[in-house]
Amino acid sequence: MQYQSAEIRQKFLDFFKSKNHAVIPSASVVPENDPTVLFNTAWMQPLVPYLMGEKHPSGDKLTSSQKCIRTGDIEEVGDNSHLTFFEMLWNWSLWDYFKKESIAYSYEFLTSKDWLNLDPKKIAVTVFEGDDDAPRDEESADLWNNVWMPRERISYLDKNENWWAAWSTGPCGPDSEIFYWVGESEFPPVWSNVETDEDNWMEIWNNVFMEFNRLEDGSLEKLPNKNVDTGMGLERIVATLNWEKTVYNTDIFSEILDSIVANILVSYNDETMKAIRVIADHSRTATVMISDWVLPSNVDQGYVLRRLIRIAVRKAYSLDFKWEFLYKIAEVVIEKLWVAYPHMIDKKDEIISEIQKEEKQFWETLEKGMKEFDKLVKWFKIAFERTGKKIDTIAWNKAFKLYDTFGFPLEMTVELAEERGLKVDEEWFKEAEKKHQELSRAWAEQKFKWGLADDWEETTALHSATHLMLAWLNEVLWGWINQKGSNITAERLRFDFNFDRKVVREELDKIEEYVNDAILKWCEVELINMDKNEAKESWVRWSFWEKYPDIVKVYTFKDSENNVYSKELCWGPHVENTKTMGRFKIKKEEASSRWVRRIKAVLIKD
Ligand code: ALA
Repeated sequence: MQYQSAEIRQKFLDFFKSKNHAVIPSASVVPENDPTVLFNTAWMQPLVPYLMGEKHPSGDKLTSSQKCIRTGDIEEVGDNSHLTFFEMLWNWSLWDYFKKESIAYSYEFLTSKDWLNLDPKKIAVTVFEGDDDAPRDEESADLWNNVWMPRERISYLDKNENWWAAWSTGPCGPDSEIFYWVGESEFPPVWSNVETDEDNWMEIWNNVFMEFNRLEDGSLEKLPNKNVDTGMGLERIVATLNWEKTVYNTDIFSEILDSIVANILVSYNDETMKAIRVIADHSRTATVMISDWVLPSNVDQGYVLRRLIRIAVRKAYSLDFKWEFLYKIAEVVIEKLWVAYPHMIDKKDEIISEIQKEEKQFWETLEKGMKEFDKLVKWFKIAFERTGKKIDTIAWNKAFKLYDTFGFPLEMTVELAEERGLKVDEEWFKEAEKKHQELSRAWAEQKFKWGLADDWEETTALHSATHLMLAWLNEVLWGWINQKGSNITAERLRFDFNFDRKVVREELDKIEEYVNDAILKWCEVELINMDKNEAKESWVRWSFWEKYPDIVKVYTFKDSENNVYSKELCWGPHVENTKTMGRFKIKKEEASSRWVRRIKAVLIKD
């Protein structure tokens, strides 16, 4: 019988529960308080504070199935194992057990008859070979050898392979990866190991021994204590258990692939396989992103989402299907995943309608692009008739416009050109594309820096007003309102926050009243540096928790009787006393995107 993903996911959680781990729900794919990364690529991001010593509310041994998005290998998608979205089954020890138990648990779960019952003779592992930074991990090798593993199945590899870190600084450590034989023969030949024969070994699990912290200067220090972070790809382990070389031949993908084939009217064969797999992968990722509040846009997460949808649509186009269909695939994705991530079912209608809207819009853009392309070709013909000079190459800047404005990837323009006996200046196009990417990266990085403009006084006062406003938004509106974006010029503030309906005038009036009351009370603004844990306990508001918890800056607005009007974690700057601010007025309240509202407000100096 085929092993099913739901069963394996549950088994993993049950196993670690039986080892006293608390089962916790998956975090969102969008890191909540870390603006430095777009997506959770692993379970690491949300846990950093606990590696540094803070107590996790659920305990020191945790397990879950985490939704992860990794777009770094997007070009590889369509092969047997690379995906942009995958489910990571993980177990963590925070200051509790270390290598010995971690390795023993992995081995037991994989090979015990009560659990996955995989054949130990088909398992191989890798450990860190050591360098100037950190020692060779003989300890893990011995531990593997003690549980069973013959020495010839243990490979020592370098930092590129056997070291794990989520960022260039911060917690990290050597890891030990576990592989399973997927070669033709029943058992791996003696000479075969993961280094020399990588195609025949599927990487299924990674155990990271998180005991170091990398500092800004590149050096390593020991963390205050030892931690374990393991991650197993659900898609890969299900494929492995079913003797399949590819994640696409599992129940995780079967209905999705069937639905694509039925909807875009193609058969799944060697020629169409890659495109269909890409559509399957991208529709999963897009669906999960929208279920976690990402919407298509031209920046940040929304841009990645838009790109994935566009790539999927173009793949269908390359298979001669020219109509909206992806939204129907999303429905199948939701059916498959909601058992593990129940909120997806609540968002079903929204997910479907967002995808359909985006697809429709992209088709319109593509059509316009086609007209642009045809115009270009016609112009070539006219030029030939007039001058007798034959132009057979589309200049890079024209191809680039098709890409940048109309979303035509280079391959598509080349293909269209070839159909008309033309070429494209590809080399220059690629140069331009590189520059474009560098620019957008620089722009994205810039965006995260604190960017108050030159008009110091006005902007500072407006910034203080956003704090007072946010404090009262939470009182007036139901729920935990968080900042989603803030943009301040000398003239006005613009503030985005999560909320799902229009804020009515009476509510806006109450907010105005509160801010003006604080202004008239001549509140002092006090800055204190606080230990992060202390800040968290003392009801400080925050929207983006810093990456490295240490000492944080907390701004408190209070009147002469010590009534607190706002207490928020922030980098500043703020006014010293609210008396200089002027009168606060909300000019406009509108939707910024779905679930996000935008307020524009000013300070009037009467
Ligand atoms: N965090 C580790 C990884 O992603 C388990 O490989």
